[in-house]
Amino acid sequence: MKVLYVCTELFPFLKTGGLADVSAGLPPALQALGCEVRQLLPAFPAIAAAAVAARPLAALPQGATPWGQAPALPRAKVARASLPGLAAPLYLLQAPALYERPGNPYLGPDGKDWGDNALRFAALGWAGACLGQGLDPDWVPDVIHCHDWHAGLAPAYVRAFAAAGRATPATVFTIHNLAYQGLFPAALFPQLGLPAAYFDVNGLEFFGQLSFMKAALRYAERITTVSPTYAREILLPAQGCGLDGLLRERAQQLSGILNGVDYQVWNPATDAWLATPYDAQQLAPKASAKRALQLSLGLEPRAPALVFGVVSRLTEQKGLHLLPQVLTELVQRGGQLALLGQGELALEQAFVDVALRFPGQVAVRIGYDEASAHGVIAGADVIVLPSAFEPCGLTQLYGLRYGTLPLVRRVGGLADTVVDCTLENLDEGSATGFVFDALSAEGLLSAMRRAFVLFRRPDQWAAVQRRGMGLRFDWPAAAAHYLAMYQSLRPGASLRTGAFSGKK
Ligand code: ADP
Ligand code: GLC
Repeated sequence: MKVLYVCTELFPFLKTGGLADVSAGLPPALQALGCEVRQLLPAFPAIAAAAVAARPLAALPQGATPWGQAPALPRAKVARASLPGLAAPLYLLQAPALYERPGNPYLGPDGKDWGDNALRFAALGWAGACLGQGLDPDWVPDVIHCHDWHAGLAPAYVRAFAAAGRATPATVFTIHNLAYQGLFPAALFPQLGLPAAYFDVNGLEFFGQLSFMKAALRYAERITTVSPTYAREILLPAQGCGLDGLLRERAQQLSGILNGVDYQVWNPATDAWLATPYDAQQLAPKASAKRALQLSLGLEPRAPALVFGVVSRLTEQKGLHLLPQVLTELVQRGGQLALLGQGELALEQAFVDVALRFPGQVAVRIGYDEASAHGVIAGADVIVLPSAFEPCGLTQLYGLRYGTLPLVRRVGGLADTVVDCTLENLDEGSATGFVFDALSAEGLLSAMRRAFVLFRRPDQWAAVQRRGMGLRFDWPAAAAHYLAMYQSLRPGASLRTGAFSGKK
């Protein structure tokens, strides 16, 4: 079973969010099950700099296609390469005019989308589809698995090849976030090199624009989301982002597969970022991680303070605008907040302002930093995700593993992974965190108050910590679901025997 995995981010080389963690975790788990996985990524500077042994493979086809013209792209090539520590070989899409730009892969230094994003990511989809047509004659995928809107045109090009009578791989598209859709002016459509008929309400036309997300939802053979609850939520208008009608039409091909965690990266017993490792049997050193966090951020190093942590992109999605509204009570109750995040300027500013109002009790670090992320997740007592919507969420899973109780809103993957500390759940030993419903300061406060109450009962708190630390959200389990899906699409494709561990 040959699987081409098409994405834009890959931890630890290039990461803006959980997509990068998934691209690092899922392919090795698929390999361990016997799939042959190769990853296709644009040669963004961070990826190109890390890639080793790059060998040119082929130019990206231009000119005539069976249905018209290929996309109007600057010169682009595909090279074979590998990345240190990764067993899956890499196809690098090299197009200097499109990708050789510093910083964030999607945004310019002004924080706005690059003006040519339609072409930048059409090229990625086109490269995926062309690999499906034998661009590398030595390796033709059985399945192309595309992630988020950036890879969304691949299924459309594959469909166009199939309609022209070519043999094509199966296509699977995973929605990591339906809110980011890749919307562009209709005037760009001719440059995409798709059949003219695809610019249609039954194609990728979306309220007069063209939508890469809609292209994927229309043309991929299977659609997955990163949690079962999110797969149900997006069928309704509230979370459907205008695409719920199409998703309902395709409900038979839509399913949710919960993300896993890379426990080689997120494990408090082996975490290289921690001065004092700990585990469920040895919880005491977590107090040192807490003290280190307090000292590093300028919080008063009080052991009895209940420290709430946040590690997040600062966007509307994450519901963090509620936090400033509850801080007076949080601090009055003796709590502290340690926030690491970056994103929308207004939110960044709001958090910088509240930190000034509560010196020593509220600490805010604006920025993106892997070491600090581990420091907050290990050192906090509670990890907070009051998300408006959350396709899966990974930091609550990291919190569980680190004995840092998640406090989450009951949406998406958060609803699927955190069990509320109700009296019944505490009694039967299933509770792992604090869950609330209303996206309001009152909703968030109700959960916070319960966290303070439980924190005054150290034995019960420790029992809940241990329960969470013992849970595993494994990639092998998720990979088995994806593999079953691939096999249903390509029953003839065989698995490699003598499956190996996946990591070099
Ligand atoms: P999303 O992908 O929506 O941002 P996830 O919870 O799936 O949310 O994944 C977020 C990932 O990004 C986690 O690995 C988290 O640790 C990391 N992260 C988020 N913000 C920061 C930050 N400011 N610094 C370092 N890592 C961060
Ligand atoms: C998206 C979602 C997040 C999910 C991540 C990885 O960025 O916002 O909930 O965990 O993708 O799938």
